[in-house]
Amino acid sequence: MPERKRVAILISGRGSNMVALIEAARDPNFPAEIVGVFSNKADAPGLAFAREAGVPTAFRSHKDFASREAFDAEICAILAGWNTELVCLAGFMRIFSTGFAANWTGRMLNIHPSLLPAFKGLKPQQQALDAGVTEAGCTVHWVIPELDDGPTILQRTVPVLAGDDEASLSARILAEEHKAYPEALRLVATGAAVYRAD
Ligand code: GRF
Repeated sequence: MPERKRVAILISGRGSNMVALIEAARDPNFPAEIVGVFSNKADAPGLAFAREAGVPTAFRSHKDFASREAFDAEICAILAGWNTELVCLAGFMRIFSTGFAANWTGRMLNIHPSLLPAFKGLKPQQQALDAGVTEAGCTVHWVIPELDDGPTILQRTVPVLAGDDEASLSARILAEEHKAYPEALRLVATGAAVYRAD
């Protein structure tokens, strides 16, 4: 079997997408292994899950660093310590310095709970409801320095149902996120999806 890609996951909170990736990578035939989980929040529930799953973890608070660049340099050093080849952002609520994002372009993925380019930024599920669309979903995309932008790797759609509120739509999308992220990582790790600038 070819070598598995070494993947680090960056989180800030719940970490359910992180769990989906860790679970997928338990299969020895999955083309990626999770080599570390980094959080910028000490109490991120995802960190505790990763520790219990035996995945190396690291925490640093951006508040302890003088600048965005200094914090990002620390993340870079941690990723290097894990010999990271690919980074998956999974609810990581920090904006990167341009240098960090540019350095990892083509090697860093994100998941966003909308059908990008629609509804970038915060509360995309509520944005979808406010816009009155009949279809919503999630996008796994390559990360580029611009927020919630970058070439799409894959999308999964869900219907917006009469009577949906933010919670019900978010839950329906999240169930698809947990399928989309491992599938997208599989495509990237096998080379079936490659980064090309738009
Ligand atoms: C997900 O909806 C993801 O698409 C967005 O942030 C949320 C993170 O959820 N970027 P979790 O921490 O993976 O449960």
